[in-house]
Amino acid sequence: MALLEIENLTVTFQTGDGPVNAVNGVSLGIDTQETLAIVGESGSGKSQTAFAAMGLLAQNGAATGKVRFDGKNLLELPQAALNKVRSQEIAMIFQDPMTSLNPYIRISDQMAEVLTLHKGMSKREAVAEAVKMLDAVRIPDAKARITMYPHEFSGGMRQRIMIAMALLCRPRLLIADEPTTALDVTVQAQIMQLLGDIRREFGTAVILITHDLGIVADFCDRTLVMYGGQIMEEGATTDVFASPSHPYTLGLLKAVPRLDRDDDILQTIAGEPPDMSRLPKGCPFTSRCTFRQDSCADIRPALTDFDGTRRRACHVPTQEVA
Ligand SMILES: Nc1ncnc2c1ncn2[C@@H]1O[C@H](COP(=O)(O)OP(=O)(O)OP(=O)(O)O)[C@@H](O)[C@H]1O
Ligand SMILES: [Mg+2]
Repeated sequence: MALLEIENLTVTFQTGDGPVNAVNGVSLGIDTQETLAIVGESGSGKSQTAFAAMGLLAQNGAATGKVRFDGKNLLELPQAALNKVRSQEIAMIFQDPMTSLNPYIRISDQMAEVLTLHKGMSKREAVAEAVKMLDAVRIPDAKARITMYPHEFSGGMRQRIMIAMALLCRPRLLIADEPTTALDVTVQAQIMQLLGDIRREFGTAVILITHDLGIVADFCDRTLVMYGGQIMEEGATTDVFASPSHPYTLGLLKAVPRLDRDDDILQTIAGEPPDMSRLPKGCPFTSRCTFRQDSCADIRPALTDFDGTRRRACHVPTQEVA
């Protein structure tokens, strides 16, 4: 059984200009200890898929569908039970560590509170555990530095602290939404390496949300590509990268710099992402797709299985997408 299973999730926001259909029928699953990447351009519905699953949508948003975690549908769980899942079973980390860290409270107090509150530890036990976790994310001299305030750490260190904080209750699933986008490339690589090590050490499943395909290749078992609030394709990362089955994925991959190719011009996908309040009837990618056929604009392709382990939503035969 999957650890988390999302079934036919939709997210709609009510706005002054009418409804915005941010997520349109997304179904996905992640197993224990697995790593899944959700990739796609800005506005494709990656974050809202995660927020909806966690019950964290903005006031004007509503979700339908099912989000099963451990057999429970999180969308129907009473607030108290949902809070328990969110604080202990599923943790989320964001691009900006300061959204999770309080600037006015010492790291020791912030981290200890999580454990005294949710695990019933004494303050002394909790601080000891917090130091252990800071060691695990390689904060040098954690024992001394734990009494410092967030601003006394560099951006990369704060990101490590946030990861440590997210892992304090030993969640079974970590959702990381663009966790390294704000960091420079070297620190980004260190944080991804750390996430990989931590994941193996603690056996945590990870959903990594990113628009950076470069970091996905090294980190994730499976990759899911979103566009216009829908899944375009999904499969083992190695398969998706070696033989993308969807014109959109192909476009994304051509826009990633690679050392093993000598083509020095990166190709970007011409055109604009769709307006989520006026999604076309057919495939949302039609207007930008160089492979488009007559049916694409009118009939939305269903997400169908192929090759045993993969899924794609496209009318164009797989072998023609190259
Ligand atoms: N509160 C809101 N009201 C109206 N529309 C919203 C609201 N929140 C998000 N949206 C819209 O939902 C769509 C999907 O947003 P989402 O945040 O999931 O994108 P994303 O794929 O995470 O993009 P990015 O890479 O930029 O983070 C976007 O078109 C966004 O403008
Ligand atoms: Mg986002």
